[in-house]
Amino acid sequence: MRYLITLLISTSMLFAWGKTGHRIVGMIAEENLTPEAKEQIAGILGHTDLARISNWPDEIKSDPKWDHTHDWHYCTIFDGKEYEGPEAGGRAIQKVVEFSDLLPKGVLSDRDQKNILCFIVHIVGDLHQPLHVGNGTDRGGNAVDVTWFRDSTNLHSVWDSKMIDHMQYSYTEYAQQIQLALTDEEKAGLLNPDIMAYVSASRAAHGQVYDIGDGNLSWKYIYKNRELMEDRLLRGGFHLAAVLNNIFQ
Ligand code: ADE
Ligand code: ZN
Ligand code: ZN
Repeated sequence: MRYLITLLISTSMLFAWGKTGHRIVGMIAEENLTPEAKEQIAGILGHTDLARISNWPDEIKSDPKWDHTHDWHYCTIFDGKEYEGPEAGGRAIQKVVEFSDLLPKGVLSDRDQKNILCFIVHIVGDLHQPLHVGNGTDRGGNAVDVTWFRDSTNLHSVWDSKMIDHMQYSYTEYAQQIQLALTDEEKAGLLNPDIMAYVSASRAAHGQVYDIGDGNLSWKYIYKNRELMEDRLLRGGFHLAAVLNNIFQ
């Protein structure tokens, strides 16, 4: 039993933005799709929405059939270096580029089309979680032990879910809150499909993310990082919309 619990805990630690984070990104994207993209996506997914399918690539992680996808959720950029490719660790960037190219070609089966669309939605979200762009030393903060209001956890998990869940908003409430102050002009300015731009911004946030003092994290860490976290979620949503609008023209 103890082994089972350890196994469950250690796999859940490696998940991406938690469920709420991915749904927020999915909902914001959904609201900013072009009519063309909306229509084509509905043709692939049927009666569902991006928030609802956004967590599927995490849900299948326990099925050995999908083991080959485990390194599609993150990438690595070493300290002081540019992105050097998937050899540095993690195929997230490679997969978004590959799938964005493949999807509009019309060569995929219905099922593959659906799966690949789900992966794009999920991975673009992941790449906005600063620790999914790792530095190559600590598995994206999974190896950085911290406490969160006295509970033992790790820095990766604080960013995937603990800070978001602390807000106690539903994903629909949070997606609305985050966009509240934006003008239409500002929204249009956020529609950027350039993957390296948003990956670099995640990586550039590390100075702030890793500023953890003695590692006992609670209110002070939240005050310092809430704005950054919400900005990453907001941009995740708009960048995802831009990627999808680009694919489905
Ligand atoms: N494993 C190795 N690096 C990782 C990262 N940045 N995020 C999640 N899992 C990882
Ligand atoms: Zn994660
Ligand atoms: Zn993920």
